[in-house]
Amino acid sequence: MRVVSGIQPTGNLHLGNYLGAIRNWVRMQDDMEDANLAQAAEGGSAHNQCLFFLADLHAISMPHDPAELKKGTLEMAAALVACGIDPAKSVLFNQAQVPQHAELQWLLGGTARMGWLNRMTQWKDKAGKNREGQSVALFTYPVLQAADVLLYQATHVPVGEDQKQHLELARDIAQKFNNDFASEDAPVFTLPDPIVPPQAARIMSLRDGSKKMSKSDVSDMSRINLADNADEVMKKVKKAKTDPEPLPGEEKGLEDRPEALNLVTIYAALTDRSVNDVLGEFGGEGFGTFKPALGEMLVETLRPISARFNELLEDREALDAILARGAAQAREIAVPTLGATYEALGLVRG
Ligand code: TRP
Repeated sequence: MRVVSGIQPTGNLHLGNYLGAIRNWVRMQDDMEDANLAQAAEGGSAHNQCLFFLADLHAISMPHDPAELKKGTLEMAAALVACGIDPAKSVLFNQAQVPQHAELQWLLGGTARMGWLNRMTQWKDKAGKNREGQSVALFTYPVLQAADVLLYQATHVPVGEDQKQHLELARDIAQKFNNDFASEDAPVFTLPDPIVPPQAARIMSLRDGSKKMSKSDVSDMSRINLADNADEVMKKVKKAKTDPEPLPGEEKGLEDRPEALNLVTIYAALTDRSVNDVLGEFGGEGFGTFKPALGEMLVETLRPISARFNELLEDREALDAILARGAAQAREIAVPTLGATYEALGLVRG
């Protein structure tokens, strides 16, 4: 298995990011490591591998501030390492240090079809009524995403539900390229399978249970930041919006109580239990009991993460070294596939 996935660098990393994509990546990395150890114990030589990258090249498809992008990229790299992505186990890098991504994107541009890109829902949503005013990069964004995974012969790509369509496009591009330019017994590209995590926790704002927890919410009280200290976390949990009712014994009882459901969901995600299981313990209790329990659980989980995160942010050299090493590893894996692509297309290179 070769797992490849990317995440756009955004600043202000919060609990929603951690309990969503990031924790899932850490699990994939650790599962892969276990599988490698088990195979080695049996004398096998199969090598499963994870590559995780910061999609900084994708970030320029929308209006952006260069200083923010740079800061966001470093912050996201620090957050990934702090949350458990181990550069000794996984290849961790940013696209901009691996020029093969941009190169392959251009080469795939001959295969991708305007009609395919025009059907992408993310393009339609982001462009809205103003398609003519969008950047070319926003339109070709999914071709770069295809290059991201095809470059490494990815077999599996963990993504959120919203990215499944882009993955299908990557498969279509790979298939057409193989058909048009490779022989059946020697395809240039592997068709990647998406892995959509079964129940990625959806974490909502602490001030409004109908809105996702977001870095762009004007109220900092609406989110738990990975950089928050214990006092801030406790304060935010205590002030989180709730209702006066005690917790019910089952999830059904939270149907019209989005804020209460959110807090229980956070507790469940942190402890790897189901919402029903948590309600089995706390059903009948009020928030005077539940909030301190949740706060402590959050503080315990985030303490090592925010310590490492803040430490890395202050050690720019260490961070640069991690990304440089990851990029060197990524380039090495990328080069043969990129070479095969040039060759298949009949492009002459010395
Ligand atoms: N488009 C993805 C997102 O917004 C990020 C991404 C870029 C990605 N390249 C990728 C995800 C390749 C998986 C594989 O979430």
